[in-house]
Amino acid sequence: MSGPDLRRAAAARALDLVRPGMRLGLGTGSTAAAFVDLLGERVRAGLDVVGVPTSEATHAAATRAGIRLATLDEMPELDLTVDGADEVDGALRLIKGGGAALLREKIVACASRRMVVIADAAKRVETLGAFPLPIEVNAFGLRATQIAVEAALAAAGCRGAVRLRLAGDGSPLATDGGHRILDAHLGRIPDPEALSGALWAVPGVVEHGLFLGIATMAILAAERDGQAEIT
Ligand code: 5RP
Repeated sequence: MSGPDLRRAAAARALDLVRPGMRLGLGTGSTAAAFVDLLGERVRAGLDVVGVPTSEATHAAATRAGIRLATLDEMPELDLTVDGADEVDGALRLIKGGGAALLREKIVACASRRMVVIADAAKRVETLGAFPLPIEVNAFGLRATQIAVEAALAAAGCRGAVRLRLAGDGSPLATDGGHRILDAHLGRIPDPEALSGALWAVPGVVEHGLFLGIATMAILAAERDGQAEIT
C-alpha cells in the first residue's frame, strides 16, 4: 500500500467518530486533506456538520468539498478536531507544523473537546525530534529571536542547527498569519515539556510545534498483508 492509501485509511477511521451536528476542527496537511475529502462525500450525502479550518489551504479544500464552514470566532468551542502530525510518541505528544500551520492548528485543537491525530504509522516515534521542530516567530527582529531560540534550546538540553524555512522561490516562508518559521534540527528532544517552557520564555516566539497534552487519540495506519491495519 502507498502512503496516500494509508493516510486515507486513517482518515476513513476518524470519520467514524463524526456525528450529525458536530462542530469540527479541520487540520492541515495531506492526511487532514484526505479527511476533508471523505467528510465532503458524507456532507454531500446529507451529513450536517460545521468545520473550522486551520489554514487557508484547508479552507479552500473544505469549500471545494462542500463543507459548511465557520470561523473560530463564530464557533469558539468545538467537539472534535481531526489533524495530521509529523511525529507522535507513546504519550500522544506530537510534533506538528511541517505544513507551517501550527499556530492555527494548536488554537483550534485546544478549542476542541477532543483532538484525534490521523497518520501513517511511520510517524510513530520513541523519542520526538528526528523531524525538525517548527517554531513560529514574529518577522520583527528575526535574527535576535533566532539567537534567543538557540540559547533556549541549549538550556533545555537540545543541540542542533536552527534554520529559517524558505518558500519555493527562496524567500522566507510566511505563514497564514504573516509570521516566519524557524526549523530546529535537533535529532532528539530529551525533555519536550522543558523545551516547550524554554521556548515560551523567548519574546518573538509566537508558537512552537510541540503539542503536549493536547491530542486525545491517535489513529495510525500501517500495512499488513496488503491491507491497512489501524492501531
Ligand atoms: C501542518 C501539519 C501537518 O499536520 C503535518 O505536517 C503532517 O502532514 P501530512 O499529513 O502531510 O504528513 O502539522 O502544519
